[in-house]
Amino acid sequence: EYAPLIDPFARPITYLRVSVTDRCDFRCSYCMAEHMQFLPKRDLLTLEELDRLSTSFIGLGVRKLRITGGEPLVRRGIMSFFRSVSRHLGAGLDELTLTTNGSQLARFADELADIGVRRVNVSLDTLDPDKFAAITRWGRLPQVLDGIAAAKRAGLRVKINAVALKGFNEDELFSLIDWCAAEDHDLTFIEVMPMGDMSEESRLDQYWPLSDLRARLAQRFTLIELAERTGGPARYVRIAETGQKVGFITPLTHNFCESCNRVRVTCTGELFMCLGQEDRADLRAALRASEDDLLLTQAIRAAIARKPKGHDFDYSRQKVAGQISRHMSHTGG
Ligand code: GTP
Ligand code: 5AD
Ligand code: SF4
Repeated sequence: EYAPLIDPFARPITYLRVSVTDRCDFRCSYCMAEHMQFLPKRDLLTLEELDRLSTSFIGLGVRKLRITGGEPLVRRGIMSFFRSVSRHLGAGLDELTLTTNGSQLARFADELADIGVRRVNVSLDTLDPDKFAAITRWGRLPQVLDGIAAAKRAGLRVKINAVALKGFNEDELFSLIDWCAAEDHDLTFIEVMPMGDMSEESRLDQYWPLSDLRARLAQRFTLIELAERTGGPARYVRIAETGQKVGFITPLTHNFCESCNRVRVTCTGELFMCLGQEDRADLRAALRASEDDLLLTQAIRAAIARKPKGHDFDYSRQKVAGQISRHMSHTGG
């Protein structure tokens, strides 16, 4: 009965991103609107249902589970969910991890490490407290830096995710590099994707192609191409002079959909087969229709069978194409 999940383009699906809440304590402007309408609690899957769903995917060959949000660490009781799904580590699951804004890491880092999380991705676009407050709309940088420090102390490997934003953090390229080198964090830059509310800002105006960022890095440093991957979309280089690892996530300048291995479920049980497309499948109905996982498994397989080839994001004609109106926070990236 067991057969791994393979999509119509012969891509094995081995990476599941689970968004456990649509809420966040920040409102990063490229990710959320300032005034978000959050889902009523009754629409959310319970932690038990999220566990059942994750377990089904692991049974179907998923080896990497990334917990996202919104901000995953603001969901009540989330540590019991982490602890519960961690039973699959070494028994089907290779990696259990999360993407976080870091605001609650000081509270949870030790427990995450104890549960078997080995690395965390923390979103941090600037080291300037005022710019940080502006991009998050009210976040406090010191709180996040404390969280990152706590993660490091707990023995977690930290990867900093910085969205490359023209006119915003261009001037911080080398300060981010230097800080990550000094703190021994990996660093990944991300091209801004045209998702969410763009009435107040244009993604095209914010877009800083990583080809340019990389060229600037190469002027100062020797970049050694690394073959190793983490199972996500980033390509990595090592900076010879400092030894640090820097990643590039380039949906625009270098589409990586060909090697896509992932899908995501939202906190209401919608399965999105592609970040850059609208099509989704309602797994909540299948979950709740019966105690038996047969219906659920069938619904998952049926959805994977229509996974699209890739996104249609494109800024190359000096306008935005392939835009998705859903906010990035809906699927956790
Ligand atoms: P690791 O490789 O395990 O470190 O993680 P990751 O890069 O898969 O996950 P992370 O949550 O750190 O995501 C970083 C960025 O990559 C976010 O901006 C995501 O939106 C983006 N991203 C992740 N998966 C996809 C994807 O399938 N397609 C696209 N276009 N972007 C993605
Ligand atoms: N484009 C690219 N990355 C984004 N993120 C949120 N919104 C966008 C966007 N529009 C990033 C966050 C976080 C990750 C999950 O997604 O900064 O690191
Ligand atoms: Fe996969 Fe879609 Fe992301 Fe491309 S945009 S890597 S197909 S999820």
